[in-house]
Amino acid sequence: MGSRGAKKSICSIAGLGYFLPEDMVTNQDLAMFVDTSDEWIVERTGIRARHRVAVGEATSDMAYRAAVAALDDAGVRACDLDLILVATATPDTPVPSTGCLLQARLECPGIPAMDLGAGCAGFGYGLHMAGAAVSSGMHRKVLVVGADALTRITNYRDRQSCILFGDGAGAAVVGSEGFLDVIDSDIGADGRGASMIRVQAGGSRLPASMDSVAASLHTLELKGREVFKQAVRHMVDAIRRAADRVGIDPRSFNLVIPHQANARIVDAVGEMLGVAEKNLVIDIDQTGNTAAASIPIAIGRARERGRLVPGQLVVAVGFGAGIAWACQVLRVRER
Ligand code: UT7
Repeated sequence: MGSRGAKKSICSIAGLGYFLPEDMVTNQDLAMFVDTSDEWIVERTGIRARHRVAVGEATSDMAYRAAVAALDDAGVRACDLDLILVATATPDTPVPSTGCLLQARLECPGIPAMDLGAGCAGFGYGLHMAGAAVSSGMHRKVLVVGADALTRITNYRDRQSCILFGDGAGAAVVGSEGFLDVIDSDIGADGRGASMIRVQAGGSRLPASMDSVAASLHTLELKGREVFKQAVRHMVDAIRRAADRVGIDPRSFNLVIPHQANARIVDAVGEMLGVAEKNLVIDIDQTGNTAAASIPIAIGRARERGRLVPGQLVVAVGFGAGIAWACQVLRVRER
């Protein structure tokens, strides 16, 4: 492959926005009703607090705020969009899609809108599909949102999982011109790992019933240790393949942004790749795992901290339920 990051862009992010609800749940709050401690949670996950969606609000409310921020940032009106993709595992309702609810809030009737399910890899899946849509010429301006309210499906009797999850949303306006070029994109899945992260009830296999509710089968179930190992393995492999395709050593990425699931997972990814600490984004202590929102929130916050420097190469990698993964190489441009 040619010189460093010289690859042609697939699409570009013209605007980015994120939203985190005001209400916070601290480790101390959780320790009041589940057998855990602030020390254990901080040491094993790096999380100190997480945001929680307001009473009466849902995923589309957070998605709307993130979308408005991204549109503002891009200087684009909602009516100029021609596709809306919402990656979420926690839609407001099973029917209709959160994408359509968001479209109504944005007051842009007629624009195609849909949901996309790829767990915590959802934003990367959305970005990949937006890239395909833009580079084929079928769409010009795509709104990609990653939004989740995991606290709504968390089992607060399961100390292993309830400490991890927080709520939030992130959004990007994607077109052919922007400040963050997507120069490489890859997605993958392995459905054999479906039982590692799942919600068993509430779908067509096990419709909601008194029994399913009593057994907490509508909450998220996680095989923690197994997911930990798979997350590290798949994110490392995805970054290595991406580095190969753009013709650089993985250590040469200026910023590595893995899905923020657990600080120890991010650390392990960095360690296995030999990434310098200053080039690794660990931004989980006040957010927890926000699922499909994690990557756009982490990119947005890295940018606010001046960590997106023109000319540099960033790699973002997601991993989640499915199991599914997504990896994008981004080149930062002058604004
Ligand atoms: O977005 C993708 C989806 N999610 C993830 O990527 C999460 C991946 N997994 C993880 O982050 C970690 O596996 C967990 C945070 C879920 C668990 O951490 P761990 O270091 O893998 O702990 P463990 O499951 O190996 O458990 C170690 C001990 C156990 O006690 P014993 O059997 O050794 O006596 C657990 O019962 O820690 C205990 N434990 C806790 N203790 C205090 C588990 N959860 C807690 C807790 N507080 N909250």
